[in-house]
Amino acid sequence: MPPRKRPRARKPSPDGALERCVNVDEVEALAKKRLRPAYYDYYAGGAGDECTLARNRGGFGHYALLHRVLVNVERVDTATQVLGTQVSMPILVAPTAYHRLADDEGETATARGTGAAGTLMVASTLATRTLEEIAGAATGPLWFQLYVYRDRGITERLIARAEAAGYRALVVTVDTPRLGRRERDVRNRFTLRRGLTVANLAAEGAGLARWEQYGSMAGYASALLDPSLTWDTIAWIRERTRLPIVLKGIARADDAARAVEHGAAGVWVSNHGGRQLDGCEASVLALPAVVAGSAAGPRYSWTEASAAARTSSRRSLWVPVPSWSAALCCGAWPREESAASATCWRCSGRSSPSLFRSPAAPISGPWIQG
Ligand SMILES: Cc1cc2nc3c(=O)[nH]c(=O)nc-3n(C[C@H](O)[C@H](O)[C@H](O)COP(=O)(O)O)c2cc1C
Repeated sequence: MPPRKRPRARKPSPDGALERCVNVDEVEALAKKRLRPAYYDYYAGGAGDECTLARNRGGFGHYALLHRVLVNVERVDTATQVLGTQVSMPILVAPTAYHRLADDEGETATARGTGAAGTLMVASTLATRTLEEIAGAATGPLWFQLYVYRDRGITERLIARAEAAGYRALVVTVDTPRLGRRERDVRNRFTLRRGLTVANLAAEGAGLARWEQYGSMAGYASALLDPSLTWDTIAWIRERTRLPIVLKGIARADDAARAVEHGAAGVWVSNHGGRQLDGCEASVLALPAVVAGSAAGPRYSWTEASAAARTSSRRSLWVPVPSWSAALCCGAWPREESAASATCWRCSGRSSPSLFRSPAAPISGPWIQG
């Protein structure tokens, strides 16, 4: 594995506008002002009527905190481990395509920023930098997000390259047998600007790294990505890598249980940020049932922050399955060492439910285990 570089100091934005933002909504507003409208729409939009997109955000409003007082918080340590990798906080950078639409440096800058924050980045198959370039720039750990191509040779080579470049896990996205119909992109005739490609595929021939001949991103995806994926495909991938496999796009307990049976090390509860099947349950609301359904299996299930990393998003971003209740105890972050018991690593108390769904959504399942 290549040696990790020291994080570089953060480059200030030229007019300081980024530094003046006090929350993620303001960063998003700034992006809207600065990006070409079609690129902003690509980043911000969802599929269909964007019901799932709205639900993802609204989902966090179903939870409220019951704060415990008189707990010594002089020293707060959010560090923990995920699949054996140390991270500074239980927040990971999800795989997203085409960073160079926003900034010419693209994913290599994201990798440096993620390393500086002490957490890990999941690099997308559809990155505008190669996975090797990203690994070369990274100052922290990396996972690789895999889309399975119809051409299994391409898929095998992507897996082998990720392993060789020091990526520590494979995140197989399973919610994209076809690309969601993203109406904003259709309306904008969204396309990559000249010079940008699906960089990881350039080694397979220029035609595979560009969409032009397919008309659109959806055309590219339907021509090249494999819509016939089944659980057998997960077995096929397992035979080709020694990396732990995380399945991304799980929403149901029975699928989580099958993921465990098929050797997944983690389950990423996701609806792809509302960009795939519209009308899905909010990821954060789907999480409890998935956790309950996979308790015997992978150590981790986690979900997503719905773009807005407001305080709410921190509550349920990532919940190691067996220490679910520890996460609810005194507000401590879950710790790997507490994973085997329901005892909180920080206050050593038996957990009590300090997090609940609002009365509109009655408590059920693992939420009330104590
Ligand atoms: C602009 C954009 C591009 C994305 N590209 C990918 C991708 O290439 N592969 C993937 O598995 N998920 C992709 N996703 C989905 C994210 O990994 C993640 O599931 C989603 O953004 C989480 O929802 P949230 O944004 O509401 O937190 C993308 C999301 C966005 C917003």
